[in-house]
Amino acid sequence: MRALVVVESVFGNTRRIAEEVARGLAHGLGESGQVRVADVGDAGDPLGGVDLLVVGGPTHAFAMTRMSTRRNAAEQAGGGAQPAETGLREWLATLAEAPMDVRAAAFDTRVDRPRLPGSAAAGAARRLRRLGYDLVARPETFRVSGTQGPLCEGELGRARAWAPASPAPPPPPPAPPERAERRRPDRGSNDP
Ligand SMILES: Cc1cc2nc3c(=O)[nH]c(=O)nc-3n(C[C@H](O)[C@H](O)[C@H](O)COP(=O)(O)O)c2cc1C
Repeated sequence: MRALVVVESVFGNTRRIAEEVARGLAHGLGESGQVRVADVGDAGDPLGGVDLLVVGGPTHAFAMTRMSTRRNAAEQAGGGAQPAETGLREWLATLAEAPMDVRAAAFDTRVDRPRLPGSAAAGAARRLRRLGYDLVARPETFRVSGTQGPLCEGELGRARAWAPASPAPPPPPPAPPERAERRRPDRGSNDP
């Protein structure tokens, strides 16, 4: 069972969440699982053989990042940081339709202001659904205490627990016994 976590992160908070999600997945999958975290800029089109795709990114201006918001974030980061050319939105726009039986889930990070609307994860999940992915978890948000972080207390643990840990389809229920086997033996008493 192979799982891939594709993540976008400017200040590093979403990346830390992605690593905890991967840890949770690895734990849930056991020895047969292979879990990889890829930065969205390096992810390319790696979906051959992936059974579960998890995507995560920061919420910018109520949605997935855009070039303009990444530029703004890079300015806030300072130190000559350059905005990434490819964010989750751009990567998802290039993603082909879901191969058969590939499952998916999406998460984001946002500042800890309860009434602030908008979620990158909701947009990413919509896109994945349109591509035919079977979503195995609700889009989830993890909170940062300010634009550059840090993550709010408990969010790393919550990320580990959120990981949609069983990408294998559930085994089919056992077949019901044959009808004939369930029928009472014919006693012949109603014969004319
Ligand atoms: C340009 C910009 C716009 C943002 N807009 C929102 C927003 O609409 N809602 C929100 O909750 N947080 C917003 N934030 C805060 C980000 O969600 C926060 O920086 C992000 O979760 C940190 O993740 P990262 O460390 O992986 O980059 C914004 C941040 C930036 C830089």
